[in-house]
Amino acid sequence: MSTTPTEGIEALLHEQRTFAPSPDFVAQANAGAELFEQAAADREGFWADQARKYVQWETDFGQVLDWSEAPFAKWFVGGRLNACVNAVDRHVEAGHGDRVAIHWVGEPEGDTRDITYAELHGMVQRAANALADLGVGEGDAVAIYLPMIPEAAVAMLACARLGAPHSVVFGGFSAEALHSRIEDAGAKVVITSDGGYRRGKPSGLKPAVDAALAVGETSVQHVLVVQRTGQDVEWTEGRDVWWHEALEAAAETHEAQAFDAEHPLFILYTSGTTGKPKGIFHATGGYLVQCAYTNHVVHDVHPETDVYWCTADIGWVTGHSYIVYGPMTLGATQVMYEGTPDTPHQGRFWEIVQDKKVTILYTAPTAIRTFMKWGREIPDRYDMSSLKLLGSVGEPINPEAWMWYREVIGGERCPIVDTWWQTETGAIMISPVPGVTETRPGSAQHPIPGIVAKVVDDMGQEVAKGSGGYLVLTEPWPSMLRGIWGDPARYKETYWSRFEGMYFAGDGAKLDEDGNIWVLGRVDDVMNVSGHRMSTAEIESALVSHPKVAEAAVVGAADETTGQAICAFVILRQEAVGEADEAGEGQDLVAELRNHVAKEIGPIAKPRQIMIVPELPKTRSGKIMRRLLKDVAENREVGDVTTLADSSVMSLISEGLKHGD
Ligand code: WTA
Repeated sequence: MSTTPTEGIEALLHEQRTFAPSPDFVAQANAGAELFEQAAADREGFWADQARKYVQWETDFGQVLDWSEAPFAKWFVGGRLNACVNAVDRHVEAGHGDRVAIHWVGEPEGDTRDITYAELHGMVQRAANALADLGVGEGDAVAIYLPMIPEAAVAMLACARLGAPHSVVFGGFSAEALHSRIEDAGAKVVITSDGGYRRGKPSGLKPAVDAALAVGETSVQHVLVVQRTGQDVEWTEGRDVWWHEALEAAAETHEAQAFDAEHPLFILYTSGTTGKPKGIFHATGGYLVQCAYTNHVVHDVHPETDVYWCTADIGWVTGHSYIVYGPMTLGATQVMYEGTPDTPHQGRFWEIVQDKKVTILYTAPTAIRTFMKWGREIPDRYDMSSLKLLGSVGEPINPEAWMWYREVIGGERCPIVDTWWQTETGAIMISPVPGVTETRPGSAQHPIPGIVAKVVDDMGQEVAKGSGGYLVLTEPWPSMLRGIWGDPARYKETYWSRFEGMYFAGDGAKLDEDGNIWVLGRVDDVMNVSGHRMSTAEIESALVSHPKVAEAAVVGAADETTGQAICAFVILRQEAVGEADEAGEGQDLVAELRNHVAKEIGPIAKPRQIMIVPELPKTRSGKIMRRLLKDVAENREVGDVTTLADSSVMSLISEGLKHGD
């Protein structure tokens, strides 16, 4: 593990601006200051209240938290519920069936669908029956590999309805990555589509599933295929089934059964510090409670009046918690958008805000920085007066981007919630509470009511105000991960062994003089590229699997738009060196290696830069000194090289790179 990042702390410490919420906002806000007092007075009692407020239990729970086998938690012990019934059925039963659940906006202009809760109810019942007809039952894992279409949410909810844990794999992952995730979870069925739209063109998804299943032995018995683009697909008789045909053939109604609060709801793979992605798994009860609670108090969703829009992809945790489980458990109306922000033009997001009268927008700093780059004239063309609150997630938001978001998008009127959390935490942990907190640009500020977070030093002692350290969570929380799928030892080791009795988040943070928390970024070998977590080790092993590569080291270098960018240093195998030396060959090889990474992991993992070098800087014990490579990647003077086994390596690298220019 490297040291706490301290670069930039000084500049951030001088950020003094604060913005109080307007009286109008405060008057309508879902949460007030008393929430903090209630949570502080009796934390478990507080969570019990939230659990009963936000979720409908088929059987009420007894004990709130069983921490006797820490770090393996049980929340709302003995409680029984169905997540899908909570997200859909009960809103229909309460007479809100006509409320729009999803204003879906397809990437091709004019391609839209509005789906009410009553319609969603019909879809999830048929989908649950169709899955049951394919043999899916309680405890059977289902992989979902879909574009941003309503069927993605329907598929997840149908699985939840059956007690079948879903494992959603982001559509930008390759067949290889999909294969390992399918097999690790032991998925019985894969739900995919023929394809999806990407920057104006249909692009195939099913071919990746076909390729993933052709790799070898598989647990998969059926592939359920949604028709989205109408493109041709290969068909494996007996295995492949059209979604629309299966739903049509399935019974119309489905009686949902309640499951234990601790029943696994889903698995979601995320990058860790080794080459093997971790299957983070979440239980039903606590997860649902914290998703709904945070969507209510942090995003300030008023289900009767708001139009909420979270721009994340369903393949990431943000899409799970804040497209599907949070807003739907509240019975909210939301926008779901299939495409990219610049298709077919750079004003697409703002056009959607204007057309759908979006009131709450939740997006990522990398998107905000991109919009900044495109210029304010673009959003200025649209009427965005419907907006009342803005949210940010996924990576640190720099004060400049925060201020731009506030002024240009929020018309200086909307509070901004900078929400810190992780796949592992399941829901928001650190964030302003918008009707209460005076916000400070660039800081996630404080744990929300019910959560305890601290910044500690190497010894696990809380740091003083004005200092930096590691971000830890000192008390269990309802939506915490229940483990790593199939690997309890790795769960303990990764999160609970660094500091006794504390959850180690892997992020560096600092406390400012006012006690605000500033999350600075990862302190482990995980990069954050456009808000996507990428493991250096995973990309290194993808590179090394190429026949021409002998060794590889990957670092995340600071990047103005994407936060970090992937930079790889590669040593070639002897036989490939000569080839690369010939005129022009080096460039071809770099392109070949970038494509190889895309094939192994996915296009999102393609390095921005690949540098072919003769050596890598290593310590005497053989550990690659990434810090020095980062200096090179960020065009800085190379730091202290005294611990290198061979101190001439860095000059060799710099020399080589100069020649390469
Ligand atoms: C980073 C996404 C600073 C952090 C929900 C964390 C943030 C990782 C913030 C989790 C934020 C997320 N400020 N950094 N508001 N939100 N991060 O699992 O490094 O994809 O550990 O979950 O993103 O990424 P993940």
